[in-house]
Amino acid sequence: MRVLVTGGAGYIGSVITERLLQRGDVPVVLDNFSQGHRAAVPPGVEVVQADLADVGALATLFSSAIEAVVHMAAVSVVGDSVRQPLRYYRENVGNLLPLLDAMTRGGCRRIVFSSSAAVYGEPAEVPISEECPARPVNPYGSTKLMGERILADAAAAGDSARSLRFISLRYFNVAGATKAAGEMHHPETHLIPRVLEVALGERPHVELYGTNYSTPDGTCIRDYIHVEDLAEAHVLALDRTRASSGVYNLGNNRGYSVREVIETVARVTGRMISVENRPRRTGDPPQLIASHRKAAEELGWRPRLGLEEMISSAWEWRLRHPQGYAQ
Ligand code: UFG
Repeated sequence: MRVLVTGGAGYIGSVITERLLQRGDVPVVLDNFSQGHRAAVPPGVEVVQADLADVGALATLFSSAIEAVVHMAAVSVVGDSVRQPLRYYRENVGNLLPLLDAMTRGGCRRIVFSSSAAVYGEPAEVPISEECPARPVNPYGSTKLMGERILADAAAAGDSARSLRFISLRYFNVAGATKAAGEMHHPETHLIPRVLEVALGERPHVELYGTNYSTPDGTCIRDYIHVEDLAEAHVLALDRTRASSGVYNLGNNRGYSVREVIETVARVTGRMISVENRPRRTGDPPQLIASHRKAAEELGWRPRLGLEEMISSAWEWRLRHPQGYAQ
């Protein structure tokens, strides 16, 4: 089936595109290349360079029998969302509307939406199930929750045979690489790629944000998920949109502290990692650990890869691509 992947030249989008190709689908990538990389798109895939706000480009795309959409295109740096909230609302919420309009006009009724654990804000308890209240604490999380609500309202409208079906996937902390695609953001804010930059000698030390959290070693705990496991969840979710809509957490049901991540990078790479303790980063919840029971039961999804595999695959990718996608 022809599947439109918005943001398909980005870190996660390119891995999903690769996975769709592998299973015999025909992905079509829409990307404005504000963050994505041409070299990240697998060879032979049709690429449309356009913005989501470009209604003409969307109309042309949906005149060519697109059966379903994986909507990844978004801005996603929490700190930026606090500094530039309007940009985040425009790109993550505003741009969803022309996409849904174009889908409706083109008769496309299935969408998988890239959401985030950021919708939970600072949850009262872990592991976090989908029933936990969604109370985002920054504009990024709010934009993702609004996107989910727009989809739910659109799906509830109209007769059930012809209305939209959506699946929102709430990602926890995505990491790792495939042979072809890896993580390369400018600037890089995420923990694992930053620690790898220290291992490579590109960064003198890693700044550890907060050592006095109420966690066993005082540093924040996150639930890391391999980008390949995440991509698999998207193809399962796409299939599920044939029958129903829903919201699912995607994580490993297991948390690692920032210190544990740094130690694992040191072990996997065999390099010394110099650490400098810093004050807490604003808005970081102490612990985010997913319950993925619902995704396991309803989508049949089982993550296969652990933290070591995430770090070793990301490390191998960085060694093969010292300049990222510039090489
Ligand atoms: N951290 C450091 N030093 C760094 C970078 C990060 O100590 O140089 C810490 C952070 O304070 C945090 C942990 O490492 O405790 C993970 O930080 P990341 O920036 O890698 O990831 P986040 O947990 O902040 O963000 C992720 C996603 C966001 C999503 C958010 C939900 O990347 O898109 O989870 O809370 F919004």
